[in-house]
Amino acid sequence: MNEKYASLFDSLTLNNGVVLKNRLAVAPLTEFGSNPDGTISDEDRAYYRGRAEGYGLFIAPANCVAPAGKAFWGQPCSWGEEYLESLRETASIIKAQGAVAVLQIHHGGDQAIKELIPNGDAVSASDEPERGVRAMTGDEVEATVKAFADAADLALRAGYDGVEIHGANQYLLQQFYSAHTNKRTDRWGGAREKRMAFPLAVADAVLEVREKHNRPDFVIGYRFSPEEPWDDGLTMEDTYALVDELAKRPFQYLHMSQKNFWMHVRRGDSTEKSRLLEVRKRIAGRMALIGVGGLWTADDLVKARESGYADLVAQGCAVLVNPGLPKLIEEGREGEIELAPDPARADRHGLPKRLWDMSVSGVLPWLPPVKKVE
Ligand SMILES: Cc1cc2nc3c(=O)[nH]c(=O)nc-3n(C[C@H](O)[C@H](O)[C@H](O)COP(=O)(O)O)c2cc1C
Repeated sequence: MNEKYASLFDSLTLNNGVVLKNRLAVAPLTEFGSNPDGTISDEDRAYYRGRAEGYGLFIAPANCVAPAGKAFWGQPCSWGEEYLESLRETASIIKAQGAVAVLQIHHGGDQAIKELIPNGDAVSASDEPERGVRAMTGDEVEATVKAFADAADLALRAGYDGVEIHGANQYLLQQFYSAHTNKRTDRWGGAREKRMAFPLAVADAVLEVREKHNRPDFVIGYRFSPEEPWDDGLTMEDTYALVDELAKRPFQYLHMSQKNFWMHVRRGDSTEKSRLLEVRKRIAGRMALIGVGGLWTADDLVKARESGYADLVAQGCAVLVNPGLPKLIEEGREGEIELAPDPARADRHGLPKRLWDMSVSGVLPWLPPVKKVE
């Protein structure tokens, strides 16, 4: 290995003592290949083959916790004992490759696909009549908190090393936190603290699962998106408030979802500042922070790692094209990292057909490597 990349391979001990062998993580990547009932398929098995090789942490794709939350064709699910075997198999495939295996748990809310959910009955924080989405009742909110906890319980019993709560990318948890989508007047909506109540209730319920099983080694993380484009959407001020609350809790890591690792603040603080660095300062070493977005090459990764903005650097699209990418760096073959899917590749880079078709037809916006924002 070229010595300049050595810092990528420093180990990281999380605040509960779990050791990640290096600073490289696979971001959660929905691959649209699971069976229609949400169990593992042969396409999933082919996708996972070698995908986690060389990474310290592998965050498995958004796994749906309740029938109303299914937001992708071929999405994996975990809303009952019947999913235990499937989860067990996925966890063991990932762990056999030497990575710490974390399952992302998710509810799509207003982004659920009508054909995939019971009676096409899509729900969110509030009514969205133009999209045929209705506000969840108080009982449904409570049941959904429990659904996240039950999915975490299943993941733990299936042998996963941890779970990541999906509070990002405008899915249900973010729909509750954002004033753009949450117009409720009950205990789950209103001022910022009340809009935060549902994400925090999910967080606390999931953290309780670990207590119940007396498994302090079970890793729990939370993924969030820092800002929204709408005038009444989330700003960095909202993000700081959420991070302050999350960082009081015994999470092992927070994970900021961004298209570009180097993004500056847009609203709610000085636009001179790096979003990641500001969040990292607020966490103040209580837990790890994962940064992501446009990191493809060994040079991208080491620049991000050495910026001090994050404890772990995660990759998404680069892993779809290059399963087991860290091995290339370790073996001094970083020049072989491919920067886009090759449409002529007969093995489709090991991707399920649906994801492959979306990729080569341009439906899926492949994100090219990004330049640092100065
Ligand atoms: C095909 C695809 C599927 C994704 N699935 C998920 C997902 O299940 N959960 C999630 O939080 N983010 C998901 N993302 C976002 C990625 O985790 C990541 O944040 C994003 O791709 C930016 O990183 P990158 O530039 O390294 O790809 C997905 C992205 C892509 C391209």
